[in-house]
Amino acid sequence: MTQSASAHEHPHPDVDPHLGQILVTHEAIQQRIAELGKEITADYAGRAPLLIAVLKGAVMFMADIARAIALPVELDFMAVSSYGTATKTSGVVRIVKDLDIDLTGRDVIIVEDIVDSGLTLNYLRKNLAARHPASLEVCALLLKEGMQKVEPDLRYVGFRLPDEFVVGYGLDVAERYRNLDDLRVYVGPGSGH
Ligand code: IMP
Ligand code: MG
Repeated sequence: MTQSASAHEHPHPDVDPHLGQILVTHEAIQQRIAELGKEITADYAGRAPLLIAVLKGAVMFMADIARAIALPVELDFMAVSSYGTATKTSGVVRIVKDLDIDLTGRDVIIVEDIVDSGLTLNYLRKNLAARHPASLEVCALLLKEGMQKVEPDLRYVGFRLPDEFVVGYGLDVAERYRNLDDLRVYVGPGSGH
């Protein structure tokens, strides 16, 4: 059977020339999420935290961490657009879709996919803090080490990564690769590699 043109444009991850090594396997992600879920469950015992994720990168992490927390959590989503190139943020963030749930008096946990420069999170934290939550913490799956001008205040961190552009498990390049199970290094156009 001959391969279709679209199959050529979307090669299997193992033979895609734009994909480098697996940095974190799906199994390792799931194991770490189970640990984070237990920590959050203990820290927030007797409370009903509100998990807030930013679309779209944190969607997979949100789905998994929410199910790893044995508390009556609520979920809400925001969409922001940050101006910059495909692989670098500028720090100028605009809210494209705001939250549905009122934050007043709530125990809010921001669920983030990746903290790179930390500019997106910095903006988000200030924006949400102004809405009078009872508490505001951050749970980030990934932290790129040494990339932030000020040490980011992250209560929960999944994995610390070197400065490489990564894709998979929700993270994209131009909307591609979000559905990969593993986290992989991206070495294609625009990666700087
Ligand atoms: P920051 O504002 O520089 O911290 O960038 C945060 C946002 O940029 C993340 O929420 C991602 O959407 C995106 N981003 C940063 N680094 C990566 C990466 O390595 N892969 C995919 N997206 C990334
Ligand atoms: Mg993105």
